[in-house]
Amino acid sequence: MQKRENFGSRFAVIMAMAGSAIGLGNIWRFPYMVGEGGGAAFIIIYLISTLVLSMPIFFSESIIGRSAQSGTIGAMEQLAPGSKWKWLGYITIISPLILVSYYSVVGGWSFEFMLKAFGLDFNGGSPDDVKLMFGNFISRDWAPLICHTIFIGLTCLIVLAGVRKGIEAFSKLTMPVLFILIVLIMFYSVSLPGSAEGLQYMLKPDFSKIDGRCITSAMGQSFFSLSLGVGTILTYSSFVKKDEDLLGSGLGTAFFDLIFAMLAGFAVMPAVFAAGIEPGAGPGLIFETLPYVFAKMGTGAPVLSAIAAILFFVAVFVAALTSSISMVQVGVSYLMEQKGLSKGKSVAVIFLGTWTLGVLCSLSFGRLGSFHILGCSIFDFCDKLVSNYLMAIGGLFFTLFVGWKMDPRKVREEFTGNGSRRINGIIYPTVRFLIRWVAPLGIIVIFLSNLFL
Ligand code: PHE
Repeated sequence: MQKRENFGSRFAVIMAMAGSAIGLGNIWRFPYMVGEGGGAAFIIIYLISTLVLSMPIFFSESIIGRSAQSGTIGAMEQLAPGSKWKWLGYITIISPLILVSYYSVVGGWSFEFMLKAFGLDFNGGSPDDVKLMFGNFISRDWAPLICHTIFIGLTCLIVLAGVRKGIEAFSKLTMPVLFILIVLIMFYSVSLPGSAEGLQYMLKPDFSKIDGRCITSAMGQSFFSLSLGVGTILTYSSFVKKDEDLLGSGLGTAFFDLIFAMLAGFAVMPAVFAAGIEPGAGPGLIFETLPYVFAKMGTGAPVLSAIAAILFFVAVFVAALTSSISMVQVGVSYLMEQKGLSKGKSVAVIFLGTWTLGVLCSLSFGRLGSFHILGCSIFDFCDKLVSNYLMAIGGLFFTLFVGWKMDPRKVREEFTGNGSRRINGIIYPTVRFLIRWVAPLGIIVIFLSNLFL
């Protein structure tokens, strides 16, 4: 048997997983979810969800992936041959494809704003005009569609040309840049007049804001941000060395992901209040707020603001691209390996499908704005379907599989890296309890209460 490639070190594992996890979910989605969910109270629920729901799912996916040394479908065939568990594999093919369709729409926005940054569009104008740019852009018929086409087209081309590794290596360069910029923007935002209210919004919980919707979306945000329930972490884990314990890589990835999200929240929310933007403004929130920040910065330090804007949007664009590549890759590998299609044909099929759904999502901000599915726009429907339902269902079954189906000895062995690392007495039983009981029951209760309340 061919020896599988491995990650060289624990740090390399964490960096690769964090590379998948950190993306638009942290920078674009987290701030607007906080805004819709009512601020600090949402953040608390988000943190709790991460601890008691997401971490067990993360560990479950890692345990399955590493013990099977293959992606979801292969893992299910190997660990539970001939059983219904293979359906779990199919969920993990469908969800990333729906996900990438609307992710590409936002990727397209970040492309447009990257071009605007290069054109120095943010740095000369009045901050109050600049914050209207997003609204003007989105209401145009063609521009958002063209940007979406470019984004998904580029994603598919990268997968077709097999240069994915190159882009991912490039992202290792832009990630730290993004990190530094977010920290700088955060300090700047907090210094803006009127920002104090935003800080308070992020820090002082108003518990009356917590309801079923808030809890569901905090849970969904946590899954989305950590790339859970769609087999991504499972697949990455299949490349982790056998003697590595899975606790460290899980906690490390979650830590970086959380830091990025929190910093983005603290960079955006104070500026939202300073700019007089409605925190619940929805998916456009950062595209209204950040140009305002750059324009404000431009009034005092135009060169600095131009450089910051360019670097920021380039980094966001690259971060979005590395995530979208990994989503398209799942579908392409499936069509090639299981359906025997050529690479070119597989990419073409995925392109056509995701492009079409993406067009509908994009138009839901304009011409199809009045078309609703269960009270949501097409874009929101796809987003909620994936993060609040499909990812949760995927996660639920991953925890059930590890908690109740897999051989407990095997589970323990995998988690502790063949016992090569001592995992402190209480840790493993706690993790196992979370995987068997807390995470599955938590997800089911949230589902049921959504359905009936
Ligand atoms: N976690 C990624 C982000 O935050 C999105 C993603 C989800 C990537 C699922 C891969 C799989 O943007």
